[in-house]
Amino acid sequence: RKGGFDHYMLKEIFEQPQSFYETIRAGIDDNVRQMIMGADEITLVACGTSYHTTLIFKYLAESLCNISVRAEMGSEFKYFVPPLRGLVIAVTQSGETADTIAALKMAKARNCSTLAITNVQGSTVTRVADSTLLMRAGPEIGVAATKSYTAQLAALMQIVNLRCERAFDDVLSHAHLAIGDVLLYDVRDAVALCSKADHAFFVGRGAFYPVAMEGALKMKEISYVHAEGYAAGELKHGPFALLTPETPVVAICTPGPTYSVMASNIKEMKARRAPVIALGVDGDKELAEIVDIFIPIPNTHLLVQVLTASVVLQLLAYHTACVLQRDVDKPRNLAKSVTVE
Ligand code: F6R
Repeated sequence: RKGGFDHYMLKEIFEQPQSFYETIRAGIDDNVRQMIMGADEITLVACGTSYHTTLIFKYLAESLCNISVRAEMGSEFKYFVPPLRGLVIAVTQSGETADTIAALKMAKARNCSTLAITNVQGSTVTRVADSTLLMRAGPEIGVAATKSYTAQLAALMQIVNLRCERAFDDVLSHAHLAIGDVLLYDVRDAVALCSKADHAFFVGRGAFYPVAMEGALKMKEISYVHAEGYAAGELKHGPFALLTPETPVVAICTPGPTYSVMASNIKEMKARRAPVIALGVDGDKELAEIVDIFIPIPNTHLLVQVLTASVVLQLLAYHTACVLQRDVDKPRNLAKSVTVE
């Protein structure tokens, strides 16, 4: 049933080109399209990995299409309801996460229009929301979300594309190829560093900050190595005290407005003797020279870099967990869906 893979998680990581492509291909129906086009403000609610996709969406939608977006954690939202207007989107792969559903019900009670992004047709969230945008990830058995995460990004990136007058049609219809290109990456050197560590940091800026948060979540969830996802510029405001030669920092540093400030952050971390594993674009020799381990991702559009960097971080967490002989598909203390608030 694992299709020749050692774990469901690895099988599901490898299914991502297809599940991403299928979600793009399914598109957005007219009803949902109208909701999205008519919204002045968008609020998203989600938990865990799904919350990270909403943060990525916020960075992309605000910077690329200038819409005002709020991303909220379901578990907080319920007790500290923000002023709500416009469209509220619940993002939940299972469609059963109690906190996310409770938040959506509150949005409904405040007369917001509501949309569910989920992987499970007929799940509770689809019965609460006015409309549903279905992801096409197929069943995910590993407890750690992998293909459901990238399928959520496929759904959310389509919303960005719609609001940007379909400027990214071409990028999105080819993104699965780039995801396929990174699946066989050899991350052994980085795994060797992480599997010896008790603590690690994952850092990035802009959309790569939530990508780093997700990389850290995946690492702690399945390998039990304590990992923190941080906005790169924040490390010097306290966490620098934790940097040692035994504390690897995984830094995502790709071309764009924050490249040079990221490169100087990396130098500051190196000066504190932390080993740095950098994800940068293929051919970036300058970056490769200043870090301990350089992992090149394809030099493509920002939207695609978000996807490929995320997949590389899934592989890093997966292989680290395997080296540490963890129960990859069923990490301790966790369940696939959290149906209590
Ligand atoms: C982590 C993970 C969880 C879920 C979270 C929300 O790998 O899977 O953090 O993302 O429990 O689940 P859904 O998306 O079903 O609402």
